[in-house]
Amino acid sequence: MNTDINLGRKIGDGATAEIFAYGENQVLKLLKANFSRMIITQDTHYSKIAHDHGLPVPKVWDHLEVDGRYGAIFDRIDGLTAAERLLKILLRPSKYAKMQAKLLASIHSIDFSGDEIHLPGSITQKGRFEEQIEKMDIWTEKKKTEVIEIMNHLPDGDSLCHGDFHGGNIIMSTNGPVIMDWDTGSQGNPWGDVAASSACILADPNPETAPNWHRVIHRMITKRINKVFLKTYLAIRPDTDNQLNKWLVCAYAARIGELSQIHHPAIPEKQTLMLSFIEKKLLSV
Ligand SMILES: Nc1ncnc2c1ncn2[C@@H]1O[C@H](COP(=O)(O)OP(=O)(O)O)[C@@H](O)[C@H]1O
Ligand SMILES: [Mg+2]
Repeated sequence: MNTDINLGRKIGDGATAEIFAYGENQVLKLLKANFSRMIITQDTHYSKIAHDHGLPVPKVWDHLEVDGRYGAIFDRIDGLTAAERLLKILLRPSKYAKMQAKLLASIHSIDFSGDEIHLPGSITQKGRFEEQIEKMDIWTEKKKTEVIEIMNHLPDGDSLCHGDFHGGNIIMSTNGPVIMDWDTGSQGNPWGDVAASSACILADPNPETAPNWHRVIHRMITKRINKVFLKTYLAIRPDTDNQLNKWLVCAYAARIGELSQIHHPAIPEKQTLMLSFIEKKLLSV
């Protein structure tokens, strides 16, 4: 449906979309120009599944197209994101890390073994990692292939996965945390999702927009948040098949690849940090 509407007040801005107030209690998530329809289709597909399974996720209402941009209407959630609360020191780093780990484990407790929720034509969890690892410009083709091979030997998994689970995608509402932005959702391996989340913790997903002071605070607390996040998750869901370290190598490599597409002075430092983690993890894989 292509609609001629006046956009409401802009209340959010991400890497792929702008969020506008819509009606009394809703928002319009409108993809930026040239982003494909599949992104919003995937977002609403996994948002609906998560919402229907009782997770705290905004309800999806409708799809809209405005000036050739694809969008969808969701329930509006009021509150700061977890990342914003952390930076305003309204949330302690360890509390933030534990909250993220518990929330992610609750997503992964939804299992689709024997069922198919994969959206036809959309990229799989492993496909996304592979695509990003291929973008790495600091590794040889041989090394990239080796890491992709490690991943391809790991189980595909059947858990509900988010794919981009970080504090900017969690709104701390008065009723508790609510999870947004399911356009990277998948039926996948929970350890891949934990690893992707850890990569987001270590290398902030929005470096090009983050002010300098943000990066300084971030650098000081990220390692601690990552440690507490992984420890809390492992206490809820133990890594009985020793998968986590292998997925961490893949997810960190993927994050380096993703960051190489962004031109910002903070990027090389983040890539070096991720690389040093990979070198340590590779020894134990
Ligand atoms: N349903 C919603 N209600 C209120 N704010 C929202 C909602 N969805 C997103 N936002 C705000 O907009 C920001 C960007 O939205 P998001 O879905 O994460 O887009 P992107 O895919 O571009 O990252 C979020 O960080 C959040 O602050
Ligand atoms: Mg987002």
